[in-house]
Amino acid sequence: MKTSNTTKARRDFIKKSSASALPFLLSPYALQNSSKTKNHGHSNNAKGPVINFIFDGLSFSPEEYIEKLGSINASQNIQPDFYGNGGITKQLEDKFAQHTGKQKAIYLPSGTMANQLAIKLLNQNNTKAIVPENSHIFRDEADAAQSVHNKRLIPIGQNKAHFDLNDLKNIIKQLDENEVFKSGLGTVAIENPVRRADGKFVPIETIQSISTYCKANNYKLHLDGARIHIAAAYSNISVKEYASHFDTVYISLYKYLNAAGGAMLCGDSEFIDQLSHQIKIFGGTCYQTWTNTAIAFHYLDDIENRWAKVVQKAKNLIDQLNKLDGISIQPLTNGTNIYDMTLSKNISLKNLANFLNKEHQMWLGRGDKNGIIKFTINESVLFKENITIVKAWKAGVAQAKI
Ligand SMILES: Cc1ncc(COP(=O)(O)O)c(C=O)c1O
Repeated sequence: MKTSNTTKARRDFIKKSSASALPFLLSPYALQNSSKTKNHGHSNNAKGPVINFIFDGLSFSPEEYIEKLGSINASQNIQPDFYGNGGITKQLEDKFAQHTGKQKAIYLPSGTMANQLAIKLLNQNNTKAIVPENSHIFRDEADAAQSVHNKRLIPIGQNKAHFDLNDLKNIIKQLDENEVFKSGLGTVAIENPVRRADGKFVPIETIQSISTYCKANNYKLHLDGARIHIAAAYSNISVKEYASHFDTVYISLYKYLNAAGGAMLCGDSEFIDQLSHQIKIFGGTCYQTWTNTAIAFHYLDDIENRWAKVVQKAKNLIDQLNKLDGISIQPLTNGTNIYDMTLSKNISLKNLANFLNKEHQMWLGRGDKNGIIKFTINESVLFKENITIVKAWKAGVAQAKI
């Protein structure tokens, strides 16, 4: 059968995204269909809830998502929105404004739209925006800036996790010296943490210096903070502090807030008030958004304290797993919740992953060509005591010996 370009692109995308790290023997579809077993912390299943060492968040099945919405509704009677206005969506927007210290926030159907509209509006009539070469904005948004918004994206920081002030000054100098028909630079964007650098965070000093320079030179600064909560949890810099250095901040509702989709864009009132018209123009105004915003509202509550627990518990767990013969799980420099895991040659990853999945509902990802497995921590690590997790791994290692 002929494979369409779209199918191939989709398959390549899954391969290149974190979904490539699926547990052995489980395809993405099998994972989705595992909804028959209730498995995220509210399970009666003898093996207990799923602990996934793969994804950003809890990765709810449809059944679990519906159950979670039901339990939220039972306790707080969710108020629906009408075309994004009012109800729990407005409550979430207000909560995000407070959370980021910005004047206002607005719901958008996707982070891609949030990034693109932020750049379009911040740029005004300027055509150029400088964005990290390894960023979602540059590599994964289908040239929307160029093709839809008439903005030219200029990549910076090739082959680095993140760019710094010197890189920025150099590229602006180069543009100035080498382009004859000059058009303006309006916006600089930073992604933090950096998805294509295994979730490394950008040091706050780097952000501060870029922010000061941009202010002094009248460039706007946008943060793609899809996963900013995870940077905050691992760097001990609050979301508010990060946000204070930017004109606009986008945060995903589905990476660490477990919604089925959606994004929040935060900024000052004058800026955010322009958004709802733009969202409509680009077809993003949805009749009801409460199925996303109610879940995100629930998980935004107390997120800092919950993640402080996750970070501590994970540290202790990784210390214990590293004591098992043949297991090595190492943090990255400026790393967040993604660790490099390797196994000694006499342990079969396939056997270990299958055992953990089948016997204990723990999901472990595949290795790359060098045998490195991206061991990822999320809130599901809170679902079992470390002693129970370590016991399962110990049994897994014993039977995975080759
Ligand atoms: C860093 C980053 N920014 C933006 C996005 C876009 O989010 P959405 O899928 O909601 O368009 C993603 C999604 O993976 C992302 O990882």
